[in-house]
Amino acid sequence: MKKLLLTLSCAVFNLTAYSAVPLTPEQQLGEALFKDKNLSFNHNQSCETCHSLSPIPSLKGVQGIVPGFVDPSNVKGISPISVGSIPRTTGTLNAPSIAYASYSPEFGWDEDEQIYVGGQFWNGRATNLIEQAKKPFLNPIEMAMLDELDVVNRIKSNPKYIKDFQKIYQLTISDTSSNKAIQDTYTALAKAISAFEQSGTFNKFNSKFDYYLAGTTQLSTTEKKGLDLFQGKAGCSGCHKMDVTVDSNGNNIPPLFTYFGYDNIGLPRNMAIPGNPVADVGLGGQEGIPQTEIGKHKVKSLRNIDLTPPYGHNGIFKTLDDMVHFYNTRDVLKKVKDNNSPEFAKTAWAAPEIASNMNTTQIGNLGLSVIEEKAIVAFLKTLTDDYPLWGNNPAAVSIKDGRVPENSPPPIISTKNMPALKIPVRIK
Ligand code: HEC
Ligand code: HEC
Repeated sequence: MKKLLLTLSCAVFNLTAYSAVPLTPEQQLGEALFKDKNLSFNHNQSCETCHSLSPIPSLKGVQGIVPGFVDPSNVKGISPISVGSIPRTTGTLNAPSIAYASYSPEFGWDEDEQIYVGGQFWNGRATNLIEQAKKPFLNPIEMAMLDELDVVNRIKSNPKYIKDFQKIYQLTISDTSSNKAIQDTYTALAKAISAFEQSGTFNKFNSKFDYYLAGTTQLSTTEKKGLDLFQGKAGCSGCHKMDVTVDSNGNNIPPLFTYFGYDNIGLPRNMAIPGNPVADVGLGGQEGIPQTEIGKHKVKSLRNIDLTPPYGHNGIFKTLDDMVHFYNTRDVLKKVKDNNSPEFAKTAWAAPEIASNMNTTQIGNLGLSVIEEKAIVAFLKTLTDDYPLWGNNPAAVSIKDGRVPENSPPPIISTKNMPALKIPVRIK
């Protein structure tokens, strides 16, 4: 697997892991487009609506301090899915965090491992970030624009964009006389957004865990126990990989907690999704992808996971405690009809929404105690970025306090000169 990851990451773009590095002009254009509500049918929705760049000040704790790049209404528990530009249109899937999404390699079949990897979306249907960014504008349950020309017309109504597209891409976007001209502008739009998604804004690598790896802070006893379980008895790192990989510039990439593969963990149907949609078949549902992939969804990065409830492609779990309890006892507890049962997530689960290809070898009966489940959750909470901001003892400045000084730079700036990381050895 290590070899696979090393090759894959060479396909990754040029990334900047330091959020204080100023955005390039292309990334600045991408940011403006990412935030522009004018690019949706009712002028009321942007990418940011569902992938917020801000913390949620009304929430207590870390979600009030650090942005999670998800839909705030999902985090607040109002709904597991998002509302589109047109009132009462809703999606069927949980909007994931897009932090670290730029590290996903291009979608493809890995000959060595004999698996599908990479791509964007829960089912990998967009090859890369550029292809992904073209979709939400035209999705009728998202930004709901008619076609590419419709979007380009909105872009060219802004004189600043006319100047920026000219300067950065040498494109005259006011020219919509040919299909080629329209497509060129539309692709440049997606390119600018993907450049922004590759910036330090989304890829900070400054969680408590990163400082721990660099040896500049300590984990609490419970967090350390959780880390050991994550790599050992619970087997989480079998899929949420912790290898250090190397990018095309020879820079080390700290653990991403995924290898961007696909699996079916057997999530039950989420009855809270409006309209009770048919089950999402995941990877196997796409043209050219065999039935053997039905029910598989992308293994997500767990960076910032504490910021991004609910969990799973259908947002069925409201807390990390429920998620870990599910991995531990999915095949042990009795089954109730669905997640409306008061017993659900306590003493019972419900049948998997899609039973085919469900992973029963690595997950479902982990034999963890309640204390061990809690330790894993405590460890997951160390993966939240901006540790210098949220560390719970603002007065403390030393490693002894388990905290780093405010405004500390990320401990692992992506550079060849970085210190060797102390990746903890996997416990068998
Ligand atoms: C109405 C809410 C909504 C809007 C607006 C929206 N998204 Fe999303 N986004 C989602 C949902 C839901 C998913 C998951 C859908 C799926 O996997 O099929 C998603 C998935 C993604 C992913 C894939 C992440 C991964 O790890 O696979 C990226 C990247 C992304 N969106 C970027 C964007 C960009 C860029 C825009 C603006 C052009 C945007 N989104 C607009 C809701 C939204
Ligand atoms: C066999 C591979 C595999 C193993 C082992 C595994 N996971 Fe996952 N994990 C996945 C996949 C695949 C998803 C997405 C599933 C979906 O949404 O249908 C996921 C999703 C998650 C999510 C929700 C992510 C999100 O953005 O909503 C969390 C949290 C999580 N896993 C934590 C863990 C923990 C903790 C462990 C160990 C107890 C673990 N995983 C073990 C494959 C795995």
